[in-house]
Amino acid sequence: MVVGTRPEIIKMAPIIKELEKRKADYFILHTGQHYSYNLDRVFFEQLRLPEARYNIEAGSSSHAEQTAKILVGIEKILQKEDAGIVLVEGDTNSVLAGALAAAKLHIEVGHVEAGLRSYDRDMPEEINRILTDHCSDHLFAPTEKAKSILLGEGIAPEKIYVTGNTIVDAVHQNLELSQEKNSILETLKLRPREYLLCTLHRQENVDNKTRFTSILEGLNKVSAGLKLKVLYPVHPHSRKRMEEFNLKASNITLIEPVDYLEFLQLESNSRLILTDSGGIQEESCILGVPCVTLRDNTERPETVDIGANILAGTASEDILKCAQVMLGKSRDWQNPFGDGKAGEKIVSIITERLGS
Ligand code: UD1
Ligand code: UDP
Repeated sequence: MVVGTRPEIIKMAPIIKELEKRKADYFILHTGQHYSYNLDRVFFEQLRLPEARYNIEAGSSSHAEQTAKILVGIEKILQKEDAGIVLVEGDTNSVLAGALAAAKLHIEVGHVEAGLRSYDRDMPEEINRILTDHCSDHLFAPTEKAKSILLGEGIAPEKIYVTGNTIVDAVHQNLELSQEKNSILETLKLRPREYLLCTLHRQENVDNKTRFTSILEGLNKVSAGLKLKVLYPVHPHSRKRMEEFNLKASNITLIEPVDYLEFLQLESNSRLILTDSGGIQEESCILGVPCVTLRDNTERPETVDIGANILAGTASEDILKCAQVMLGKSRDWQNPFGDGKAGEKIVSIITERLGS
């Protein structure tokens, strides 16, 4: 099980829990792409995940350097271990490096969350998704749409399984706990449905001063126009750029990233979510909270098709308009990402494959 970043840990957790339940022979390999406590360890502790057997400690650097460090590190470990299959999840540099290292050693690769496409090759994640899908032996597509994309790219049908997305499992497994144990709303002096939640960290948004400034202006307009507080747990990538570009966000409440139970609590009680995150587009849809995506495209079109999400782009006026549209939406859509048993299904498929 290769993990490297916050969303991979959260989305692999249901699979790891299932492997634990079945007392399977497996280990976790952490690439160390994320290493800050609140992007990494906090999730191992809170989701009660077993320790990683290895941590490559790749850390932060350029795309080539980071991917290369992970690739070399994983190869060394796989040469020592007798792995039957390597599982990767999502679209980060850790995922691409994990899949490539295993494929070159002729070890089977399973890609969880296969078949997502934004059709925007300026995004590093799009390159990672395409390459990972095309060197995988088992492609766990979350939806029929993702499967049809893979088939359209010539991937053999017998390699593809529609399992749902493990994020549904993660939400189902933790939501109740988050409601029971959590007091983050009290701490932040927020009342349910009286605030908006925002996250923003994608390279094409925060590494570009003009786009980042325009989004922050849009958030200010939304806060003033709708008379609602905007809460933004700031990813360290974005924090670094805000400091570098000297950006101010006077009407927005900025906080440090929070743990998973706290974040679920913040999401499920917010009036509206504004984000450029992939996982948060899914979670808002699962939780029945309308979403405004601060991007020009999405690899999660299912959320837009059912009316749970809208693409606002990054112009401040458009962000305000889209927020107004989404506030008027009824929240009666059906979650398109499965029944919360994706982890179980994926483990059953792998077990069957390895047994055969
Ligand atoms: C990465 C993924 C992105 C994913 C995101 C999840 C790639 C190309 N990007 O973006 O797809 O959506 O994770 O959150 O794989 N930093 C810290 N502490 C950390 C990690 C990063 O402070 O633990 C800061 C560093 O300043 C670093 C910057 O964040 O330079 C970017 O980190 P990096 O791993 O390159 O990309 P993310 O923006 O985290
Ligand atoms: N998340 C969290 N705390 C935060 C912000 C996000 O636990 O302060 C969780 C969120 O619930 C979701 C995941 O992190 O499951 C999304 O990760 P991120 O936005 O970093 O990456 P992406 O999904 O865009 O790759």
